[in-house]
Amino acid sequence: MARFSDEWIEKVKSAVDIVEVIGRRVELKQSGKNYLGLCPFHNEKTPSFSVNPERQFYHCFGCQTGGNVINFVMETEHLSFPEAVTKLAEEKGIEVPVISKREQKKEERREELRAANELAARYYYRNLRLPSGEPARAYLQNRGIDEDLARDFYLGYASDAWDGLVRFFAKEGFDLEIARRAGLISQGKRGFIDRFRGRLMFPICDHLGRFIGFGGRSTGEGQPKYLNTGQTEVFNKSYVLYGLNWSKDEIKAQDQVILVEGYTDLISLFAAGQKNVVASLGTAFTPAHGQLLKRFCSKAIIAFDGDSAGQKATLRGMEILHEGELEVRVATLPPGQDPDSFARTFGAARVQEWLEGAAPFREYQIDRIISQHDVETREGKLRASTELVTVLAGMSSTLERDEYISYAAQRLGVLERSLATEVREKLGIERPRPVHNRHNENLSPPEAGEELREREIIRWLLQRPGYLVDIQNQGVTASDFRQPDYRRVFVSLSENGSDPKATAIASELLSLSGPMPGWEDCLRSFLLVLTKRRLRKIEEKLSHLENDRRGFDIRMELYQLLKEYYDIFGTEPS
Ligand code: UTP
Ligand code: MN
Repeated sequence: MARFSDEWIEKVKSAVDIVEVIGRRVELKQSGKNYLGLCPFHNEKTPSFSVNPERQFYHCFGCQTGGNVINFVMETEHLSFPEAVTKLAEEKGIEVPVISKREQKKEERREELRAANELAARYYYRNLRLPSGEPARAYLQNRGIDEDLARDFYLGYASDAWDGLVRFFAKEGFDLEIARRAGLISQGKRGFIDRFRGRLMFPICDHLGRFIGFGGRSTGEGQPKYLNTGQTEVFNKSYVLYGLNWSKDEIKAQDQVILVEGYTDLISLFAAGQKNVVASLGTAFTPAHGQLLKRFCSKAIIAFDGDSAGQKATLRGMEILHEGELEVRVATLPPGQDPDSFARTFGAARVQEWLEGAAPFREYQIDRIISQHDVETREGKLRASTELVTVLAGMSSTLERDEYISYAAQRLGVLERSLATEVREKLGIERPRPVHNRHNENLSPPEAGEELREREIIRWLLQRPGYLVDIQNQGVTASDFRQPDYRRVFVSLSENGSDPKATAIASELLSLSGPMPGWEDCLRSFLLVLTKRRLRKIEEKLSHLENDRRGFDIRMELYQLLKEYYDIFGTEPS
């Protein structure tokens, strides 16, 4: 986001005192030029967290995190860079630049809508606690939501009246036109009327805790069961996740989020001690949800009912989260249960067990297909395998695909080789025709010990940063690391960045003991695998091209590829 100029960011940084900002969270004691305290990013008993006011920098010698005051606010308050600078600037009364007048106007309008939602939330909250809120309180009690929980989630009640909120807003002198834009009231024949009537109200906040909309549960037979705020300038179901404002710290602490479908599922899981939960708002997960969650964690557990109507959509949602590089697992429930009913029936310990038993997403997907067919019969087996081939062919990582071809073949009781062939055909890849036979047997991934090999390289690079140049000179880039953690560290090393996650992984690696082969050996076997992998890629492309007769361009590319192939071939380490 090129929203702020470097000068402006510098201005903010120099206006704030890093010792003061960090001092709000960490008890700091002066020690020479620096200040020392207990690190807020890892557990420790003796202080290894130091703040240097001169350089306006903090660093922890225990967990190797460090950065400037903006990084600190980003980390501790889970804000993006622009959000963190904005916050600091506002504290210091520094005017925050906006892209344009138009953008500024838009932001002001959004702020109005949030104010309307907040005011409405207060109104509903009070209603629930008035004598007239009795039906809603009875409903809550019935559902096992006690007063404390209701308070924690700021639950409220919209009475049956046509214009309760309208009159409240009018009394408060609040502009009704803004309330209309916020989706809280609408224009009726004889003036404004409330959108939510006779409903238990769940206020919905963005991850910064700003009120942006509502979900309203009918307390009786009223349809629809849930009525949500429609799309507004601040509320878009594809971006918002219910509960994130309450759960983000725990999500970050556990590096894991639990995803559910309903407001009450989230509340009951909280009550059962699971506080890293978010709920979608009656829609499938979107890439935007995935990106938002990625800011807080790397793992997700999807917890939904066994017989959910939207299961297909949910499956697609999982694919999206998976593609967004979250490690997804699935926790299923018996038909007829949802996380809310399960938690209330069986209690915290069973909830914990159930979540721990979550299956990796791909396993779940494969098991589900198999369970939907009678694989004891030949037809059933064929139909299941057709569906499986589609799923397997859809996997974008070769490594993952091979892994699950093996898993699926085993579960289905067919030969791995046959299934692999079908997947290849589906992908339009013929079995790669080797240009040179000698290498044929060595070409198929996954390579044994690959992860170990990558780890050793990274360990060496951490100990001898000078080796980075050696390896870069060999044309190695981040994408050559398949293990995401090691790739991350490599990126951080090459960019000389301060990615806290990479730092955490690095310090773990640095703490490993145990013997390691010498650098030369590590590098050689690492490069050998890379070379084989590159050869294989070229072979696949070649076999495509050889079958294609679309003229000169292709033959030129073919020539280039062959040249590249033999170049690598000639220098292949052995
Ligand atoms: P469910 O139908 O599974 O409801 O919808 P639930 O969460 O179990 O609710 P209770 O236990 O009956 O109160 C899951 C989610 O789908 C959305 C809501 O966000 C709900 O929490 N939904 C459902 C709607 O938006 N509209 C509806 O009519 C129903
Ligand atoms: Mn339910």
